[in-house]
Amino acid sequence: MTTAPPRPRRITLADFHAAAREILPADAYDYLEGGAADERTVRWNTEAYERLALLPRVLTGTAGVDTRRTLYGTELASPVLLAPTASHGLFHPEAEAATVRGAAAAGALTTVSTFSTLTVEEIGAAATGPWWFQLYVQRDRALTADLVRRAREAGATACVITVDTPVTGLRERDLRNGFALPSHGTPANLAGVAAPADQGTAEQGLAPQPPHHGIHDPRIDPTIGWSDLAWLRTVSGLPVLAKGIVRPDDARRAAEAGIGVWMSNHGGRNLDTAIAPLTMLPAVADAVAGRVPVVVDGGIRRGTDVVKALALGADAVAIGRPYVWGLAADGADGVTAALRALRRETELALALLGAPDVASLTPDLVRPAW
Ligand code: FNR
Ligand code: LAC
Repeated sequence: MTTAPPRPRRITLADFHAAAREILPADAYDYLEGGAADERTVRWNTEAYERLALLPRVLTGTAGVDTRRTLYGTELASPVLLAPTASHGLFHPEAEAATVRGAAAAGALTTVSTFSTLTVEEIGAAATGPWWFQLYVQRDRALTADLVRRAREAGATACVITVDTPVTGLRERDLRNGFALPSHGTPANLAGVAAPADQGTAEQGLAPQPPHHGIHDPRIDPTIGWSDLAWLRTVSGLPVLAKGIVRPDDARRAAEAGIGVWMSNHGGRNLDTAIAPLTMLPAVADAVAGRVPVVVDGGIRRGTDVVKALALGADAVAIGRPYVWGLAADGADGVTAALRALRRETELALALLGAPDVASLTPDLVRPAW
């Protein structure tokens, strides 16, 4: 009798990616991987890291390295956060409960999407570590305020308001697959709230679509403005970060209002050919001038990517697709393993750069590769 050869160990995020691709149904995989239109921005997000080279310091006498980072008073094992991603039930039966447990086991913080499969109460009950709540402002502001308060009561310690999605981008893979996000049909956090007709797109001069067509959710209010951020801070009683900033002028305005800056182009899923956040990071860090934390996401796949973003002025980075690959491959354990792999790579990058900790990452360690 022959025994199957042992499965090779998964040691990189790319290994978890390969596993997720094998395991997931094609339409869920396409939803996860896909970006808007030609997916140029999806590509640019990773290429922006590939085009930067590191300049290691030698003979620094660095022995151990320390990847810890404290954000809004929470100490994290590494400066890598979990970006909000919708509907974890698509990827694993234990959904966000597995994600928050898996992240906590790696000393990481999860940002929970408004469009989670489980409710914020269920996620809070499952959480064994810190988490933030990502808010899509709903047209119904009383409902929005109630949702944020529910998240805080369930244990969220900051609120991340997504500001780059007045409408959802052109997800051509989803349209071809006839894929609709299950959490949009019946969002657990908004149970019983009927979706309005798609006035969001109509108001903006776009052809109206039936509710739940593709992944656009007509409950999302496209008219939010700067004054809503102050309102949100008051109703939530939590620190607020604005997710989806790429411009220094927007970053300066957020920083002046004490709103944290989360640089993102939504993983290339909204406006195709939008710039990679990393490209704008030095200018944004300059505009923010240390007044509020700067988080950057999009295209981070290696520990060397993490150190590049920190060297150029980010306080932390966030990953989206990569931890979902871990979740799909192996539930909570897969999330933990993916985060640990990235942390090991970050430790190694620090050691080889001659940087003892994340605070010693400075812009001189990075330059264009060619
Ligand atoms: C997302 N993203 C996202 N952002 C958000 O603010 N609310 C959300 O509900 C979602 N949902 C979502 C689902 C899926 C499947 C993906 C891949 C992404 C965007 C996410 O927070 C983050 O900005 C990007 O995923 C970062 O890029 P990488 O790490 O995936 O390259
Ligand atoms: C997405 C939405 C839900 O990116 O933010 O799929």
